[in-house]
Amino acid sequence: MQTRIKAVRRRVFETPAPIRVVGMLAGELTEEGSLLDHELGGVLVKAVKQARFKGDLTQTLLIGTEEGFALVVGLGKKRGQGLGAVRHAAAAVARELADTGFREAVVESFLVERLDKHQVTAAMTEGLLLGSYEFRTYKQDSPGQRIRYTLARAAGPAVERTLPVMEGVYLARDLVNEPPNVLSPEALAERVMALAKAEGLEARIKDRAELEELGMGAYLGVAQGSINKPKFIELIYRPNSKPKRVVALVGKGLTFDTGGYSLKPPTNMTTMKGDMAGAAAVLGTMMAVARLALPVEVRAYVAAAENMISGTAYRVDDVLTAMNGKRIEVNNTDAEGRLTLADALTYASRQGPDVLIELSTLTGACVVALGEQVAGIFAFDDSLGKAVLKAADAAGEAAWRMPVVEEYRELLKSDVADLKNTGGRFGGAVTAALFLSEFTEAPFVHIDIAGPAFADKEHMLGPSGGTGYGVRTLVRYLEDLTHD
Ligand code: BES
Ligand code: MN
Ligand code: ZN
Repeated sequence: MQTRIKAVRRRVFETPAPIRVVGMLAGELTEEGSLLDHELGGVLVKAVKQARFKGDLTQTLLIGTEEGFALVVGLGKKRGQGLGAVRHAAAAVARELADTGFREAVVESFLVERLDKHQVTAAMTEGLLLGSYEFRTYKQDSPGQRIRYTLARAAGPAVERTLPVMEGVYLARDLVNEPPNVLSPEALAERVMALAKAEGLEARIKDRAELEELGMGAYLGVAQGSINKPKFIELIYRPNSKPKRVVALVGKGLTFDTGGYSLKPPTNMTTMKGDMAGAAAVLGTMMAVARLALPVEVRAYVAAAENMISGTAYRVDDVLTAMNGKRIEVNNTDAEGRLTLADALTYASRQGPDVLIELSTLTGACVVALGEQVAGIFAFDDSLGKAVLKAADAAGEAAWRMPVVEEYRELLKSDVADLKNTGGRFGGAVTAALFLSEFTEAPFVHIDIAGPAFADKEHMLGPSGGTGYGVRTLVRYLEDLTHD
């Protein structure tokens, strides 16, 4: 992580820097802004008037003064936008200052609307870091300057708590952004081994032969079309003291999804390197959990594979036997995620966790239902569903509870096997969730992140590509467990 953030108690006007950043809310400079304006003899108010700067959320105005530059950032015309607005405004600052040559900036904590200081510092830290994320691995031009941010009137512990979470988000974004020719299942497994070594986690990788012995026929059916071998990843974080809870996290890990013989049209196939975003979120969470040394045991599972076409690929009409013995008729090879997840869920739940949370870029239907920014939460345990939704809300990641309509289970009935892997045109996100629930006994929540995991274009909190969606929610959920 290039960007550095330091919290200080001082005010912006007391802190000299090449550039100082203050906010504007509902058409007026914030208190910090006014104090800085006084200090500078009224140049800010004058410049704001001259430019007819309105201070719309994330709008910015750069002003040259006798004591360095000032940047005014809009916090919105109306009040009541809360921490989300703070996060977005901070991200706008980071994006504005990227590539400007400034190496140091002092930023006011946007302590607006009686918001809690800790929460504001956390949201500002998130915004600055999410907004300055770049994926430069395959760019050969020179990288931008690193910027050191000083957050005025901020809570130091809130920065300390947030940095590891952002490191997890960065890891998740990086993994999603890696091209699929580089990040094969094997390469993903190697990165997990390196992560385990660096963070003191336990990792185990299972190869095809072992997976066959375990009877993971659904997962192996999907994987058999690719020359890139499947790798089943298990990563465990154990706290120093006896854990209060054991949480299993399962992430969909398709390093590429062509659709298989139920081939995707070309326009749907781009971005399918992101079909391992669930795995990326789970791994990013593991990094954060280890760095925060949370007192819960967390076990991550990824059935990594690639969904390809070849002489060895699975077909429609194939019948696969899952690890739990259920026979599945394949009626669409593009519904591959649930097949890999079926065996991962069986394996994970047989280890006896207290709860099981699974994230996957599972269905286009969920994107149709909720749009590209909102994840669907499908809970087979109501209190777990409530806790996950609460965590998502607190983390500022948009999510919505979806209904698990038991009556739709019959849509998955097969004429030749125990069930089939898709349930027809309607309610595709719901039938997918119901399918998954056939493979776990543990209290279970499925989160469909097909919409928010990948951004087609630049957005408020980062560039196009992987968003790292889910890390903030999962870490928050795990932290919440330690409080009750
Ligand atoms: N990986 C896709 C789902 C997806 C779609 C993720 C769009 C991100 C953006 C998944 O494997 C898939 O292809 N699902 C099918 C299921 C269908 C065949 C029942 C879909 O949604 O079309
Ligand atoms: Mn698919
Ligand atoms: Zn897929």
